[in-house]
Amino acid sequence: MQPDEKTLARLKPGCICKGIKLIRLIEAIENGADTYEKIARQTGIGGGPCKGKRCGQKVKELLQKKVNNPAASGQDIISELGNRKKRPR
Ligand code: FES
Repeated sequence: MQPDEKTLARLKPGCICKGIKLIRLIEAIENGADTYEKIARQTGIGGGPCKGKRCGQKVKELLQKKVNNPAASGQDIISELGNRKKRPR
């Protein structure tokens, strides 16, 4: 993982409600978590006011990227997220 990508993942939110950064979600997936429940257990996400609506969607996207490319590393996932187009406001 490139240092700047890792820094970016440390800054990006993973679970806004709980203040957990994206890097924690990616590390959980790299450590074998393959469901929302497993990732939530490892990281503590999902217990906030939105009850996992926002971070659940993020986890779904991360897991889908991993399913589509099982050999993807955390760096690959971060790079793909960085290339994702922003939603129009
Ligand atoms: S963003 Fe994770 S519980 Fe709300």
